[in-house]
Amino acid sequence: MHCLVFFDILPNNLLKVKNTIFIASLIFIISCSPASNREGQMQQQIDSLKSKLGNTYKPGLGEFMSGIQVHHAKLWYAGINSNWKLADFEINEIMEALDDIKKYNADRPEVKSIGMIDPAIDSLNAAIKQRNQALFKTSFQLLTNTCNNCHRATAHEFNTIKVPDTAPFSNQEFKPM
Ligand code: HEC
Repeated sequence: MHCLVFFDILPNNLLKVKNTIFIASLIFIISCSPASNREGQMQQQIDSLKSKLGNTYKPGLGEFMSGIQVHHAKLWYAGINSNWKLADFEINEIMEALDDIKKYNADRPEVKSIGMIDPAIDSLNAAIKQRNQALFKTSFQLLTNTCNNCHRATAHEFNTIKVPDTAPFSNQEFKPM
């Protein structure tokens, strides 16, 4: 099929006509290329993107939980040392991980129970904002109980979380500077 239009032979004073022909010929060329071929190429690209997406690494629930475990321990040492800036940082890390769980692990039925943790998080946020050590301690106990309530509700009761009794890392200062 001959789809090219030869417009270069047109005189210059017919510039507008020339442009119109140029655009028309472009449309003609595009619409002339076999549609099925283009669709096939698009489908190939979609399939390749789909397979790339399917193979993209996403952390599992257990990995997020291990991260939360670290922040749970650091939060305690930040709070009992009245390091409120660090405590605020750690509670935010926990909140981010909870959001990520909802986003990346939505296929896990256990995730439906995750809302039970919200009251404890709210209470800790209030304690940190008020720099209230007593409220911090009761809220932290509430958080820890909720971790275990969810573990029980999701048949992971063997995974028992407790208030830590030793600082989790020797290479981090928990006292405020
Ligand atoms: C949605 C309910 C739920 C809540 C709330 C929850 N967990 Fe979990 N947790 C789970 C489930 C389900 C697993 C098992 C994940 C898996 O299959 O790997 C788990 C596993 C764990 C593990 C084991 C990870 C490992 O590989 O050793 C730890 C540690 C943990 N959670 C800590 C916590 C802490 C700390 C909290 C509270 C701040 C918490 N979890 C709150 C449901 C929950």
